[in-house]
Order: sequence, then C-alpha cells, then structure tokens
Amino acid sequence: LAGRTGREMGMDVYAVGGFVRDMLLGIPNDDIDLVVEGDGVAFAQTLGERLGARIRPHLKFRTAVLILPSGQKVDVATARLEYYEYPAALPVVELSSLKMDLYRRDFSINTLAVHLSPAHFGRLVDFFGGQQDLKDGVIRALHSLSFVEDPTRIIRAIRFEGRFQFRIGAQTERLIKNAVRLNIFQRLSGARIRHELRLLAEDAAPVAGLVRMRDLGLLQAIHPLLHFPPSKERLLEEIERVVTWYRLLYREEAPDVWIVYFLGLVSGFDATSVDLLTSRLQFVPRRTELVESTRRQLRFMAMQLAQWGRTNGSSAELYDILSPVPLEGLLYAMAKQRKQELKKAISRFLTTLQDVHVAISGADIKAMGVAPGPSFSIILEAVKRAVLNGRVKTREEQLEHAAR
Ligand code: CTP
Repeated sequence: LAGRTGREMGMDVYAVGGFVRDMLLGIPNDDIDLVVEGDGVAFAQTLGERLGARIRPHLKFRTAVLILPSGQKVDVATARLEYYEYPAALPVVELSSLKMDLYRRDFSINTLAVHLSPAHFGRLVDFFGGQQDLKDGVIRALHSLSFVEDPTRIIRAIRFEGRFQFRIGAQTERLIKNAVRLNIFQRLSGARIRHELRLLAEDAAPVAGLVRMRDLGLLQAIHPLLHFPPSKERLLEEIERVVTWYRLLYREEAPDVWIVYFLGLVSGFDATSVDLLTSRLQFVPRRTELVESTRRQLRFMAMQLAQWGRTNGSSAELYDILSPVPLEGLLYAMAKQRKQELKKAISRFLTTLQDVHVAISGADIKAMGVAPGPSFSIILEAVKRAVLNGRVKTREEQLEHAAR
C-alpha cells in the first residue's frame, strides 16, 4: 500500500535501515522506516488516512510518524531531490536522493533499502556494500568523519557487535581510536551518552560491550570514574546473569536495567563520586534520587539481611526487609550477594513472597462482628504474616486465623 500510494503521488518509496537489516538477518523488527523521494509529510498524511493511523508530522525535519491502529509505528522521512548543475555542456544531474540520504547514516549494514514502488517492488538497493558486510558480520562506517559528526555512533557500533555477534572492521576501529584520541566525547551531552548506554544495557548481553568500551578507553573518556577493574567486571557479569534470570520469569514489573547496571558501575563509590557521575550523565532529578535512595536502602537492607540469615528469620521478616527496596535495588543486591542462602532468599522474595496476598477482606472481618476501626488492619496484617510464613493457605484457613 505504501508503494502504491507513493506511485499515485508520483514518489518512490523505500523501506530502509534497521528494518531491512533485521529482515535479511531473519530477526523480527516492528519499527518500519520509510524514505520517500518527494514530500514525505504529504505522503504520510495520505498513507495515514488510508491506514486509519494517527499522524505526527514534524514539518521542520520533513518527517512524520504514523501510529497504526495496532500500535505499530512507521517512520517516514523525506529524501530531498538534489540537482547538481555541472559546468559546460554536461546536463543537470539528478543525484539519487535516496543514496544521499543513506550516505548520511552510520554503518553500511544500516544503508540497505527495499524498493516498495509497484514497478520494482521488493528490489534490494545496496549502494554501500551493506549486504556483503551483513554476510561477513562486519560493522563498517561509511566515511572517515562519521564518528566526529556523531560520537554516539561509537557506542552504537559496540552495541551492534554484541547484538549480532559482529565485529567492528579494522579501519572503522582505527577511526574510533582516533576519535577517542581527539577527545570526542567531551563535546557530547550527558543525556545523549546516557541514552546510548541505556540502549546498550537493555540488550541481552551488555557486559561484553561495556568491557569493549573500557578497553577502547571510551568509558574513561566519558568520565574517569567509569573505568572498572576486573573485580567489578565479575560483578557486572553477575548482574547480567540475574537480569537474564529475572526476564525469564516474565513478570509484569519490568526493571530499569540500566539503573541496575549503573548501581554495579558505582558499587563501592562514595556519594560524591556517584554525584559526579549522575551529573556527567545528566540524570533527571527523579533518577538521581532513585539511585541515591536505593543505595541508602541497600546499605540498611544488607545489614538486616545478614542478621536475618544469622538468626534464621521467618519469611514474614524477610518480606519486611525486602519489600521497601525498589526492584532495581533487589536485582543488584542479588547479584552482589556472596552468600548463596541470602541470594536464594532474595530470589524467593522476587518469585513468590512478594506476590502473597490475603484472600479475605474487611467485609469478612466485619461479618465476624468486629467493629470497624484500627483492629481491622491489625487483623489483616496478622493474617498476611501467617500466609507469608506458610502457616495458613486457603481462604477458609485465613478466615479461621482472623477469627482467632
Ligand atoms: N542512525 C545514524 N546515526 C545515529 C543513529 C541512527 O546514522 N547516531 C541511522 C541508522 O542508520 C539507523 C537509522 O538511523 O538505521 C534509524 O535509527 P535507529 O532506529 O536508532 O536504528 P536501528 O538501526 O533501527 O537500531 P535499533 O534496532 O537499535 O533500533
């Protein structure tokens, strides 16, 4: 439909970028990027109406986002037609605007396009050898200024290495090292670096990427405090194992994994050092507060948990110790914990204890003839503790316990 709509409007339409790359790799990707040779916003408007999509145009950038009824997003960009007049008798040349658009992108593997116009539907357009690089598993920048123009691409390169098990090409690696020597990260805002680090952290196996960043001197270039020794590397690897484990539980509450890794990166730091890093990375106040309060809670929790272990505490006590701590803190604490039985205790809280709920309500207690008042919550709390400790289970048992 996109291709036909474009044709009717006299424009060629292409699917480009990550969508095409992932399609060729056989990886699902719901983010469709379209490039239109012509007025992309007008095209998006027409296509959006036909698809019943919501349209968010950015007139300034000549782009638009379509949000389909299914929730899927389609990005539409405009490739400008550029005419170059040559001197003397040479004719006016229309440089392929698609090619210009793709040349501005980061890596050859992201420059593949698929023709959507009816006459050429499905034809792969490969100006920069992207298909070969996909086959070889190579991440290659398109030109020598790529990283100077946009230093975040260095982190993207490392992210793609890890995600696809590719490797950065030799020349591209030289460009990265050169960019690091030029202190390229100095100019980059904390917010942009943080955004890239977050994307890296959310991938399946980010530690290899963090190690690669350290070995290339990138982390240190962002801030000297980000350099981590082998001991911390082991902690980060343990965080990766815990995060993977937690994801496989398919629980509703999803942690902000970047924060879990960040807690690992600043493990053992004093408050001032953490402050320097959250400032450099321009954490928003709410995130800074989350990191600081979680670190405070974790210190307290670690003491209580050790005590709980020594005294063979109950499940209800474990619940009291762990339930105030945010999920990110619990995952970090589980990774950091050396004592196997305490690690298990945290995992038991995350998998079962935190879900414990009381099957009876105030109405049941009222029905027992108790006058409404503070005693209600005391009774319900007592029932909850009994459930946590496994002493009562069914609703009948809970009613019986409440009556007592
Ligand atoms: N791009 C770029 N430089 C950047 C970021 C993006 O050149 N710093 C280009 C890439 O070529 C990419 C396209 O913009 O294909 C879209 O960006 P994005 O959606 O972030 O990239 P994807 O390749 O789809 O990556 P991901 O799968 O991680 O979203």
